[in-house]
Amino acid sequence: PEQQTLSIIKPDAVRKNLIGAIESRFEQAGLKIVALKMIQLSRAQAEGFYAEHQGKPFFEGLVDFMTSGPVCVQVLSGDNAITRNRELMGATNPEEAAPGTIRADYAESVSINAAHGSDSPESAAREIAYFFEPGEIFARS
Ligand code: CMP
Repeated sequence: PEQQTLSIIKPDAVRKNLIGAIESRFEQAGLKIVALKMIQLSRAQAEGFYAEHQGKPFFEGLVDFMTSGPVCVQVLSGDNAITRNRELMGATNPEEAAPGTIRADYAESVSINAAHGSDSPESAAREIAYFFEPGEIFARS
C-alpha cells in the first residue's frame, strides 16, 4: 500500500555531515521526500516524541542525545514506505544491522544510531503530525 512514514536524521549523523548521503539512500530506493525540515528539538519536544519510552532506563540519555544538536526530519512516501524505510535503516543496534544499511554504515551504538523511522501506520500518523502541518506535506506523483 501507498504509505507515508516519518524519518529523522539524528544529531550524530548531522554532525558527521551525512544529511545528503542519507537522503540520497531514500531517493535511490524510490522513496519520495514529501516534507523536510531541519530543527533543534527542545527537551519537551523530544520527551513528547518518545513518550512511549518514558520510564525506560535509556530514556534520559535518549532525550539528551536527541537534543544535542539539530536533526533533519522528513516525511517519506511510497509503496510500503514504513517497512522499506526500516529496511534501509537496518536494526536499531548497528551490530545487528544488515551490511549496507544506514545504521550498519553510520551508527555508533544502539543509542547513537543515525536515524529513526516510524514502526507502524499508527506511529507514522502520530509522528508525522508531531512535526508537520498538513500544508507542509506535498503531494508528489
Ligand atoms: P529510535 O528508532 O529513535 O526509537 C527509540 C530509540 O531509543 C531507538 O531508536 C534507540 O536510539 C533508543 N534505544 C532503544 N533501545 C535502547 C537501548 N537498549 N539502549 C539505549 N538506547 C536505546
